[in-house]
Amino acid sequence: MLEARRILLIIGGGIAAYKALDLIRRLRERGASVTPVMTAAAGEFVTPLSVAALAGEKVYSELFDLTNEAEMGHIQLSRVADLLVVAPGTADLMAKMAQGLANDLASTLLLATDTPVLVAPAMNVRMWQHPATQRNLAVLRGDGVHFVGPNDGDMACGEFGPGRMAEPLDIVAATEALLAVGPLAGRRVLVTSGPTQEPIDPVRYIANRSSGAQGTAIAAALAALGADVIFVTGPATVPPPPGVSVVRVETARQMRDAVLAALPVEAAVFAAAVADWRMSQEVTSKMKKVAGARPVLDFVENPDILAEVSRIGDGRPTLVVGFAAETDDVAANAADKRLRKGCDWIVANDVSAATGIMGGAENAVTLITDAGAEVWPRMGKREVAGLLARRIAVALGAV
Ligand code: C5P
Repeated sequence: MLEARRILLIIGGGIAAYKALDLIRRLRERGASVTPVMTAAAGEFVTPLSVAALAGEKVYSELFDLTNEAEMGHIQLSRVADLLVVAPGTADLMAKMAQGLANDLASTLLLATDTPVLVAPAMNVRMWQHPATQRNLAVLRGDGVHFVGPNDGDMACGEFGPGRMAEPLDIVAATEALLAVGPLAGRRVLVTSGPTQEPIDPVRYIANRSSGAQGTAIAAALAALGADVIFVTGPATVPPPPGVSVVRVETARQMRDAVLAALPVEAAVFAAAVADWRMSQEVTSKMKKVAGARPVLDFVENPDILAEVSRIGDGRPTLVVGFAAETDDVAANAADKRLRKGCDWIVANDVSAATGIMGGAENAVTLITDAGAEVWPRMGKREVAGLLARRIAVALGAV
């Protein structure tokens, strides 16, 4: 719920502006008040009248409006909110934000604010993929700006790909996560997720079937309890959840570096399916097919990130949770693994092909702690994540 929360909603000029109308409704349904600001271009897509009617508040759009300056100056306007939401976040607005431009009301508010900012980018796929936009995205992430979306999909311009604005309910979820006053508010936690990819040569790699669904759901559940989540993810098939700080990696070694850089954290959940091995030597040219000859691949072990963090000594997270994907003797193997890795809990699951768990929507887990094994009934990965997040909050003494 967003009871009594104040959102300053900046509507950029893009076709997705029509979704901002639904977003206003959804935010208000949850108890938030919404002060709308429209860029000049936004007015080409939705009318200030509809926006004001849905928000139940006047629309701000001009920087040099003396009446407003007398009522509420632009500096104050940018500070009274609990969160600034930019939806649609156009390429132009992102560029202005990254450069610190302040040549209209929206960009001035974004520069003058000291409250968190959530951007829901929306633009043509080529504009999103353009190096300039990706550069701006990286700058803004570095500045602490939060992002939700964009999603993949058909676009109004007839193209397909990333650039579609996140759906209003996803933006609401990200808003709730950012404003959460849940039991884990202010607590820093880390979640690793997804597979890793280990290059064989410049075109081939070794990976695994992890979709990242369970790790993503755990990160979302922890964020929903108010935690500051650092989400270190390999190339997963499901997108990262809103409201978390995403660090994207490919290899196990990159994941290890990202994890160590994220410390200290109070709890760390290692849900990633990290490749156990990588090629012993980096091959920089494509391996050629030679008639009759089989390739010889030589491997070395990857760093065991979970084991390393569990035994890191000073600065060890209070709670370290590992996963065990097993196909036989799940509980016994997982209990061994808990001791071998030195972690506090192991979430064990049976990933035999017949269970359909790897890449599926459900999970059947056994939680191994120092008190023994708890078998949880089969349930959705989101439910598993919700229960686990609660247990983590309890273990950290937060509830
Ligand atoms: O040894 P195994 O791969 O079965 O261990 C699984 C657990 O260890 C998972 O929590 C996984 O995220 C973590 N792990 C890791 N680094 C590795 C291998 C596994 O963090 N190199």
